[in-house]
Amino acid sequence: MGLFDLGGKVAVITGSSRGIGRAIAEQLAAHGARVVISSRTRESCEPVVRGILDAGGEAIVVPCNVGRAEERDRLIDQTLETWGRIDTLVCNAAANPVYGSMRDVDDAAFDKIMSVNVRANMHLAHRVLPQMAERRDGSIIIVSSVVGLTGTRLIGTYAISKAADFQLARNLAVEWGHANIRANCIAPGLVRTDFARALWEDERQRARIERAIPLGRIGEVDDIAGVAVFLASDAGRYVSGQSVVADGGLVIRESI
Ligand SMILES: NC(=O)c1ccc[n+]([C@@H]2O[C@H](COP(=O)([O-])OP(=O)(O)OC[C@H]3O[C@@H](n4cnc5c(N)ncnc54)[C@H](OP(=O)(O)O)[C@@H]3O)[C@@H](O)[C@H]2O)c1
Repeated sequence: MGLFDLGGKVAVITGSSRGIGRAIAEQLAAHGARVVISSRTRESCEPVVRGILDAGGEAIVVPCNVGRAEERDRLIDQTLETWGRIDTLVCNAAANPVYGSMRDVDDAAFDKIMSVNVRANMHLAHRVLPQMAERRDGSIIIVSSVVGLTGTRLIGTYAISKAADFQLARNLAVEWGHANIRANCIAPGLVRTDFARALWEDERQRARIERAIPLGRIGEVDDIAGVAVFLASDAGRYVSGQSVVADGGLVIRESI
């Protein structure tokens, strides 16, 4: 595996019971990392752990609703108690968007989206960074979205939170680069998961979106997981503060 080898590393992936987070966890494990599977419920994580163990990997469950400070602390504390280190933190869990105009998003919904999608990521990063700095090695990966790169009338508040994640990664990269810690975002386009089901399940809607994508198809979870392996491993060791767009070319399509 060479530059992509994650043997000896420990990775924590939030929201890894299904979807993109699950694929990232499975691919990090397949490349040798010990992985922590996490989501709001233990039961939904257990099949993922079993699959990784059956494939010869190492994995544990630590449930964590990332919106709750005490559960974030437990996620980090239990990982450190079990394996003594965290080399890669993947902030993947996010709150579902409210569909429609930003005018209809009340303050409580706005605060929830920002607190789960941005503040929780920052707090988790701050919990893992000191031990990364001691070892002078670490990779923080935040799963953002291409919607944070363009205007949208459908999921505006969510898009604000995802744009903030780009800046969060840049700030962390600048603040912690001296300790050889990297921070980056992945910006997926439309990926076939439960989260985006409303956008891809309807055939006409999906066909419209696929016509706009140069590669001609929506994404699959492993299309995103490969980017995470790159960013977690030595292959990405000189990449920091960046946002890797994995969208089949959606945001760079011809404008006229
Ligand atoms: N799918 C897309 O088209 C797309 C595009 C761009 C970006 N993204 C981003 O990709 C990330 C993953 O999305 P996905 O499409 O894989 O979603 P998904 O299939 O719905 O999976 C979401 C995961 O997060 C967990 N989760 C939800 N709320 C949580 C919370 N408060 N705390 C901890 N875990 C929580 C869920 O498990 P439980 O229900 O068991 O808690 C599940 O494991 C998100 O950041 C999303 O914004 C997705």
